[in-house]
Amino acid sequence: MRFVPTVQIRSDKHPAPRGAFVGIISGAMMTLVAACGAPPAPQASAPTVTATTPSGSTAKSEISPTPDPGPPEEAEHHHGASKNVNVGPSSMLAKVDKLGIDLSKPLSDIPLAKKKKLMPLFQKALGFKDCTGCHAGEPGAIDFKADTHDLKLARGMWDHFVVKLRDENNKRIFCDSCHQGEHHLLNRKDKDALNTFMHDDYEHKFARADGEEHSCSTCHTDVFEGHIFRDVWKISDEH
Ligand code: HEC
Ligand code: HEC
Ligand code: HEC
Repeated sequence: MRFVPTVQIRSDKHPAPRGAFVGIISGAMMTLVAACGAPPAPQASAPTVTATTPSGSTAKSEISPTPDPGPPEEAEHHHGASKNVNVGPSSMLAKVDKLGIDLSKPLSDIPLAKKKKLMPLFQKALGFKDCTGCHAGEPGAIDFKADTHDLKLARGMWDHFVVKLRDENNKRIFCDSCHQGEHHLLNRKDKDALNTFMHDDYEHKFARADGEEHSCSTCHTDVFEGHIFRDVWKISDEH
C-alpha cells in the first residue's frame, strides 16, 4: 500500500496542530524529497491520518534537515526548550509533607493558607525568577486572584500529574520531578527525539496511582491527542 498523506494547507495565523503524526508525515515527506520521488517507506506504527500542515513557510522549516529556530512567533508559541528535560527524583517532598499538604487531593481542596506556602516551591521547581512566572502583574503589583494561562496549566499539572502519577518505584511525585528547575521542558522541533524522550521518560519513569497500566494514553488519551493542554485539559492556547 502506498503511503499518501492528505495535506491541507492552512493559512491562518496560528500554526495548525502538530502532533506526533504530523512529525511522521513530515518524516515521510523528507524521505520523499531525499529520494526524489521514490515512494517513502511507511513507518511501522504510522496510523492512517489526515494531517494538516501550517502555512507554507513553516512546512518548509519542518522538512529542512537541520533544525532551524523557525519564525519567532512560533518559537514563542511553543515555549521550546533546546533539549528535552529528563525526569528525576523530587527534592521537595519533605517540604510538602512539612507543610501538611496532601498530594492526593485536587489543588482546589488545599486550604488557602497552605496553598500560599506552596508558592515558593512552585516558583523554585519551575525556575521562575519571581511570582509573575504564573501570576499577572509586575513584581510589587501582582494580582494574585487574576487567572492566567500558566495558573490554569499549574492546576492541570497538579490534578492530572501530581495526584494521579507515581514514579517508577510507586513513590509520590511533585512538580520538580518533571520540571527540575525549568519551565521549558520539551524540544518540539525534533519529533523523533521527542517521541523517544516521551517513551523513555514520561512512559517508563512513571506509574499510575490507581495501579492501572501506564502508557502514552494515560496522558494523551486512547485516541492520541498531541495537544494535551488544549484538547484534553481544555485550556485555551490564548494567554
Ligand atoms: C505523563 C504524561 C505523558 C505521557 C505518559 C506521555 N506524554 Fe507525550 N506529552 C505530554 C505532555 C504534557 C506534552 C505537551 C502537551 C501539550 O503541549 O499540550 C506531550 C507532548 C508530546 C508530543 C508533542 C506533541 C506536539 O504536537 O507538540 C508528542 C509527539 C508526544 N508527547 C508523544 C508521546 C508518546 C509517543 C508517548 C508514549 C510513548 C507519550 N507522549 C507519553 C505528556 C505525556
Ligand atoms: C507555577 C505557577 C505559580 C507560581 C510560580 C506562583 N503561583 Fe501562586 N498560585 C498558583 C496556582 C495554581 C494557584 C491556585 C489557584 C487556585 O486556587 O486554583 C495560586 C494561588 C496563589 C495565591 C492565592 C490567590 C487567591 O486565590 O487568593 C496566592 C496569594 C499566591 N498564589 C501567591 C504566590 C506567590 C507569593 C508566588 C511567588 C512566591 C506565587 N504565587 C508563585 C500558581 C503559581
Ligand atoms: C509529568 C511531568 C510534569 C509534572 C509532574 C509537572 N509538569 Fe508542568 N509541564 C510539563 C510539561 C511537559 C510542560 C510543557 C513544557 C514545554 O512546553 O516545554 C509543562 C508546563 C508547565 C507550565 C507552563 C510553563 C511555561 O512557561 O510555558 C506550568 C506553569 C507548569 N507546567 C506548572 C507545573 C506545576 C505547578 C507542577 C506541579 C503541581 C507541574 N507543572 C508538574 C510536565 C510536567
